[in-house]
Amino acid sequence: APTETATPKRVLLAKPRGYCAGVDRAVVAVEKALEQYGAPVYVRKEIVHNKHVVETLSDRGAIFVDQTEEVPEGALVVFSAHGVSPAVHEEAAQRSLRTIDATCPLVTKVHMEAKRFARDDYDILLIGHEGHEEVEGTAGEAPDHIQLVDTAEDVDKVVVRDPSKVIWLSQTTLSVDETMVRVNQLKGKFPELQDPPSDDICYATSNRQTAVKTMAPSCDLVLVVGSKNSSNSVRLVEVALQSGAKASYLIDYAKEVDEAWLDGVSTVGVTSGASVPDILVMELLKWLGERGYGDVEEITTANETIAFALPKEVRQSRVR
Ligand code: F3S
Repeated sequence: APTETATPKRVLLAKPRGYCAGVDRAVVAVEKALEQYGAPVYVRKEIVHNKHVVETLSDRGAIFVDQTEEVPEGALVVFSAHGVSPAVHEEAAQRSLRTIDATCPLVTKVHMEAKRFARDDYDILLIGHEGHEEVEGTAGEAPDHIQLVDTAEDVDKVVVRDPSKVIWLSQTTLSVDETMVRVNQLKGKFPELQDPPSDDICYATSNRQTAVKTMAPSCDLVLVVGSKNSSNSVRLVEVALQSGAKASYLIDYAKEVDEAWLDGVSTVGVTSGASVPDILVMELLKWLGERGYGDVEEITTANETIAFALPKEVRQSRVR
């Protein structure tokens, strides 16, 4: 007979998790564009940073490209939820592309702040991850006024023209705690540094981190469903580890879980990034259930009701 230890096995399921309002809007925009205008519909960059979503939409006729130049003249292109710089809109106009802008309204909000403070001639310190599409788009609104601050070393390098006219803004999907560390470093250097008019880290990012923080101290293992290039998903693994989970891993699919991760594990925490369809979480719960972790308790720290209207081009059913 197997020498079963008596450790009870259970799953704590974070809520909120998964799709945010901006991701839902962007994915539906591509689906509707396919229905209304027919395939192919070009999408510049991954519409949202999730492998499953991109593969599913590709199967339905979406063509994902990295550069605007890859879209044939006159074709229909959707801009991703992460936003684009004004230069990308210009490129699209030059190629006579028909465009649908699926930029999340909460990213657009940061673009508007960047434009406004650049117009008022502030030095803008944009906290974000180097190379991420969202910061490329935001920085492109005012390249002469914005400096990207990613690491602590970047803080040392910042030079401003007038220390009494400096504001920080941020990417929407950062770690709330690490951002405050960075802001405090910046304030040590520039005591008059101004805060953004409202939080740039979005409700979905901070709610998912709060749920993980609440759950993680009780977990031996936290599994985060999400793709490696999804900033907010990667942050959830970090937050889980910082908040007391003994181990945490990021997986795209249940089949990626290594059974060895479950050795001696009593409580498994489960959550997912803002770009992750819940079906992937359900598949993980099924997989865990088959291995004795069938007892699932949802840990709710917020109820989200926010929804965004679709881009105008896909609101009506008539083809232009
Ligand atoms: Fe928008 Fe936040 Fe989602 S910025 S796309 S609501 S993660």
